[in-house]
Amino acid sequence: MNVFTTRKSLNEALAPLKEAKKSVGFVPTMGALHEGHLALVKRALTESDCVVVSIFVNPTQFNNMQDLDKYPRMLQADVDLLNSIGEVLVFAPTVEEVYPENDAYSPLDLDGIDQVMEGEFRPGHFQGVVHVVRNLFQIVQPTHAYFGLKDFQQVAVIRLLTKKYNFPIQLIACPTLRETSGLAMSSRNLRLTESERKDALIIFQTLKFIQTLKASKSPKEVKELAMEYFSAGKLRLEYLEIVDGSSLKALDAAWSEYSVVCIAAYCGAVRLIDNLELV
Ligand code: PAJ
Repeated sequence: MNVFTTRKSLNEALAPLKEAKKSVGFVPTMGALHEGHLALVKRALTESDCVVVSIFVNPTQFNNMQDLDKYPRMLQADVDLLNSIGEVLVFAPTVEEVYPENDAYSPLDLDGIDQVMEGEFRPGHFQGVVHVVRNLFQIVQPTHAYFGLKDFQQVAVIRLLTKKYNFPIQLIACPTLRETSGLAMSSRNLRLTESERKDALIIFQTLKFIQTLKASKSPKEVKELAMEYFSAGKLRLEYLEIVDGSSLKALDAAWSEYSVVCIAAYCGAVRLIDNLELV
């Protein structure tokens, strides 16, 4: 498998493909790959002529240095996994490659969608995501880019970034892959003990509980009941928000056509997020 660590070597490999007007699918990741990531890569492989997967633990999006230090890193295992599903170009750059000295980046106005939920509890997180994704888009210049709805708010932020920077890239949002237990797959799950894995199920159970209440109650009422339901478990809730999926504004008296519930909670020392589109 081709693993590129510099933008120059990646661009040299991509140049003939781009000249031949081939489509380039791009899957940005931070590694510690699991089936959720692989689903994005598999989809990209079916829809694009060639696929680039980046593996880069982006320091600028971590507002907690312990979280950054503890983030699992396993490049060789990731490359082996990718190898097993098809032919992709792996881009595993250093911090200096992604953030060169002459990097002219100034924070992007995200119309407030970076201030709520994840943005409120992880100040600066989305500016870090925007910065790295903007730089990676500039390096790879893909025709298509694949993101998971597991990070629902991130998809909204990246849609806005693509629009504001006029990137000619088609964004494809892919559904969340879950374990059979319902736990959303995440690289962070590697840090959960067996009993914490069980405790973490309260997140998906609460999401489903909310779905069952939607037909008979308002978002405000549902939120109250859901907080109570969640509190019977062992996790420490950071937020539970029922929002309009487009504006990310909290819903109160009435449901919107696209209502989404988002949860962030600590399971032991591990911060988990999940969400569900309510139908
Ligand atoms: P990371 O957490 O590694 O996730 C990479 C991509 O995989 C994201 O688009 C994420 O939403 C998706 N993903 C993760 N778990 C998933 C699941 N269970 N089902 C479906 N998709 C899933 O998200 C990031 O990295 C970073 O913020 C990044 C965009 C790479 C910028 O640094």
